[in-house]
Amino acid sequence: MNDRPTGIEIGLTNYGDKDFSLYLRRSFAKSMGYSNAMLAKPVVGIAYTPSGFNNCHRHFPELLEAVKRGVLAAGALPIDFPTISLGEGFLNPTSLKFRNLMSMDTEEMVRAQPMDAVVLMGGCDKTVPAQLMGAVSAGRPAVMLIGGPMMTGRHHGERLGACTDCRRFWAQYRAGKVDEKQINQIEGNLATTAGTCAVMGTASTMACIAEALGMILPGTAAIPAVHADRLRAAEATGALAVKLIGSKLTPDVIINQKSVENALRVLLAIGGSTNAIIHLTAIAGRAGVPVSLQRLNELSDTTPVLVNLKPVGNGYMEDFYAAGGMGVLLRELKDLLHLDAMIVTGETLGERLESDAVDWIDRSVIAERKSPLEPQGGLVALFGNLAPRGAILKRSAADSTLFEKEGRAVVFTSLADLAARVDDPDLDIQPDDFMVLQNAGPHSDSAMPESGYLPIPKKLATKGLKDMVRISDARMSGTAFGTIVLHVTPDSASGGPLGLVRNGDRIRLSVKERSITLLVDEAELKKRAAVTDLTPEQPARGYANLYAREILGADQGCDFNFLVPR
Ligand code: FES
Repeated sequence: MNDRPTGIEIGLTNYGDKDFSLYLRRSFAKSMGYSNAMLAKPVVGIAYTPSGFNNCHRHFPELLEAVKRGVLAAGALPIDFPTISLGEGFLNPTSLKFRNLMSMDTEEMVRAQPMDAVVLMGGCDKTVPAQLMGAVSAGRPAVMLIGGPMMTGRHHGERLGACTDCRRFWAQYRAGKVDEKQINQIEGNLATTAGTCAVMGTASTMACIAEALGMILPGTAAIPAVHADRLRAAEATGALAVKLIGSKLTPDVIINQKSVENALRVLLAIGGSTNAIIHLTAIAGRAGVPVSLQRLNELSDTTPVLVNLKPVGNGYMEDFYAAGGMGVLLRELKDLLHLDAMIVTGETLGERLESDAVDWIDRSVIAERKSPLEPQGGLVALFGNLAPRGAILKRSAADSTLFEKEGRAVVFTSLADLAARVDDPDLDIQPDDFMVLQNAGPHSDSAMPESGYLPIPKKLATKGLKDMVRISDARMSGTAFGTIVLHVTPDSASGGPLGLVRNGDRIRLSVKERSITLLVDEAELKKRAAVTDLTPEQPARGYANLYAREILGADQGCDFNFLVPR
């Protein structure tokens, strides 16, 4: 027997007799019809995540065939295996609660099963970070295949794409500008093909980040899910996984301080999702690389927004791909990137950018450096006595007239309180007030849902108000927009000052100064803290119990304490 087993000989089940273990494994493998010739090949595992509860992955069977084709043609045996799949709209209380579970599933199944390399097939919001986190921790050669974005639909001649347009039309419906019949028609045209949300939401942001980190084939982040190029990318990804066998270029090597900074630059230049800060922090954290919000601000000051896609701009992901995609963007950012960072093909980022120059660029979608959409990055971190460990504002999707402002707090103590009172005609609220939502952070019962996009109270929305300052410890969908301060850390359920805000308090927001300040004196806050305990009850058992014991704050990527390397 070899010293370094390969293929199905890797990691034999322990029966106390190695030869018996191999004989037994081979006999079970043969029950699946494999020949001796096939069982002698190295194995590429394929982490396969279709699910009847995940619309974004509905084309994965076809993609899987293409990956397998690539693996077989390159001389290895492809074996797919299921892991948890997270379909954004189908999980309660929120998909984020299960991201770490999926990362554990991925890590353990990659490590426990016999494979020389692995292809990670992901797409919908949390699946990409979960798989990357798991792959970094597993330390096996790995390459990711992104599922790709949906194509847009049409309604009365207008292009529609999930989910910025979902929110736009819902706001119009709440304001009485769109009727019941129309909203039902729109519902059927927002998400019409396989693939992830059609705008630069969290899924597309994470796809671009995966490319910036060097974890997918160059140029493949933005290929639409149903485009034939996506199938060709799948085949090529399978072939690349075979090349990776025996390589020392594992995800924990590829993901390092340089590639994480490259990913932050890309996140800022695409006006990407706020969620990506949490996910990138968690992925980098698994490789022992801290992501500091102060550093994010430094990078934000020197990274222009170049990509004109919703929710920040006008286009959709299919336009980004047709415009030249990630290769063009990375080339525009070249002088800001660490070009010596290694990517999964075995090249440096600089070598990759030399080799795949494009001959046409749609400048209405990807701007030149000399004429950016915004001179500074799309995201900014805020600090102050309301958020000692930071909060995030997506300034590129916000109303800049609200950036330097003081307002009166109108407090909702939980999501249930918000749902019960936000449309109450007697709610005491004015356009200049700051809406505050407590108890929606990672330590709360609701596990940090995307509810930071607090609805404008109906009494103000019907008068035409489109935006106001909203502050919470929750997240916001990558497809949403507004002057929304998120991820306030520490969160209220872990004793953060957000839980001490009371109706009528004054709060000052200054984007210029990167600050968010509760204008209440220290002595009063101490008094309130002494009588405030928002710690939720510990669930008695199961994953909920593990989550409650181990969850870390947004500034640590909401990973589990025991999963972060020491
Ligand atoms: Fe899957 Fe939006 S629902 S990416």
